[in-house]
Amino acid sequence: MTAKTFYLETFGCQMNAHDSEKVVGTLLARGYTQVETPEAAELVLYNTCSIRDKAEQKVFHRLQQFKRAGKGKVFGVLGCVAQQEGEKIFDKAPHVSLVAGSASYTKLPEMLVQLEAGARRVTGLSLDTEETFDTPFTRRDNPHRAYITIIEGCDKSCAYCVVPFTRGPERSRTSASVLAESRQLAELGYTEIQLLGQNVNSYRDPSPAGWDFATLLTRVGEIQGIRRVRFTTSHPRDFGKSIVDAIDENPRLCNHVHLPVQSGSDRMLGAMQRLYTRDQYMRRIEWLKNSPRNISITTDIIVGFPGETEADFLQTLDLLDQVQYDSLFSFKYSSRPNTAALAMGDHIPEEEKTRRLTILQERQRAIQIQRNSETIGAVQEVHVEGRNPSLGQWIGRTSQNRTLNFTCADENGESLIGKYLPVRVTRAGPNSLAGESAANML
Ligand code: 5AD
Ligand code: SF4
Repeated sequence: MTAKTFYLETFGCQMNAHDSEKVVGTLLARGYTQVETPEAAELVLYNTCSIRDKAEQKVFHRLQQFKRAGKGKVFGVLGCVAQQEGEKIFDKAPHVSLVAGSASYTKLPEMLVQLEAGARRVTGLSLDTEETFDTPFTRRDNPHRAYITIIEGCDKSCAYCVVPFTRGPERSRTSASVLAESRQLAELGYTEIQLLGQNVNSYRDPSPAGWDFATLLTRVGEIQGIRRVRFTTSHPRDFGKSIVDAIDENPRLCNHVHLPVQSGSDRMLGAMQRLYTRDQYMRRIEWLKNSPRNISITTDIIVGFPGETEADFLQTLDLLDQVQYDSLFSFKYSSRPNTAALAMGDHIPEEEKTRRLTILQERQRAIQIQRNSETIGAVQEVHVEGRNPSLGQWIGRTSQNRTLNFTCADENGESLIGKYLPVRVTRAGPNSLAGESAANML
């Protein structure tokens, strides 16, 4: 086969980032070569996100740039925008030849054969699959931390969310295949594993063993050579106490839980079809706060959902005060195709959404300054991820998922990346900590 070049740009969440690692691996295994710019590539792929309108627009921007300049290239749209817009993409961007959603990636090799044969309208849009996309060819971006998808799709129907439409129904991988991949990664020298799924808590082993998520998490945490296990994302409704118990029992399971709440108002939680009340959510927060592991808690919030009043918004601010999150992602509501909320309109003016978002972020910033400053003086173990040469600092991450940048007096010019080191926190900002290596003090 003639060698071909490809370029792949990824938007969106970690699931997408990891899907891209598998897509890249599949292409390399077929003899393609990855290049750094779309200009240098014969095949240009975008792995897209449609969670909010802004994310969706990005791919059309990119494609627009190549409407004329892209002659001789083959363009493909993968991921959530592909699934959502389907063949309409061929009308919007006639220079595109491949449109495939994530549920069709197992058919990628066949789709590539069609493209190579010159086909101009190749699609992979069926959501009707029992399969998950497992491949031995995954080309991982990070030599120390590896992602493993344990469950694909989502069976919830949050009123604002496109994911059930773009990633299809839930499919869990067998526990045996997850453990085999984890062991193989440990043998290759990976020390941190991140278990991924839109809703990892509803993981259910399809093999007769029938493990739930907490059991799988425990078993992955027992694998020799693995020092850290993380997981994302959790849905509060399916988040059981057994997950906190598992974290309590094994320090290799990181003391961080991302538990998206979306709103502090019961009225909004009902309208969003989140399937829990604020009280039920708070019960989970109590489990986490009562853990001896000092588990950090982070969340996602949407402001400006249809019908959100000032009183609802104030309840969200009140929830932030009550929970004291270590970090959060906040978004302005964006109406999405196919979702239940589409019919509710999108009547909260943009300026008002911006006002609420700004107030929320300021409130959270104050909380983070306070919470981060409480760590000053403590020694925390970091996994070293990089180096900032201009500051002479190493970039580390704590088990709680905080960035902790640090200096190291006796590093002897050797790279610390990938190592686990104790670091004493000396300063704290709203978004990160700074410190110095405490390795020589041990
Ligand atoms: N508008 C704004 N934010 C959204 N999210 C999901 N759908 C929407 C939407 N339509 C946010 C939620 C989710 C995070 C990944 O993105 O907070 O948890
Ligand atoms: Fe974006 Fe959601 Fe798709 Fe991830 S699953 S890429 S966040 S739309």
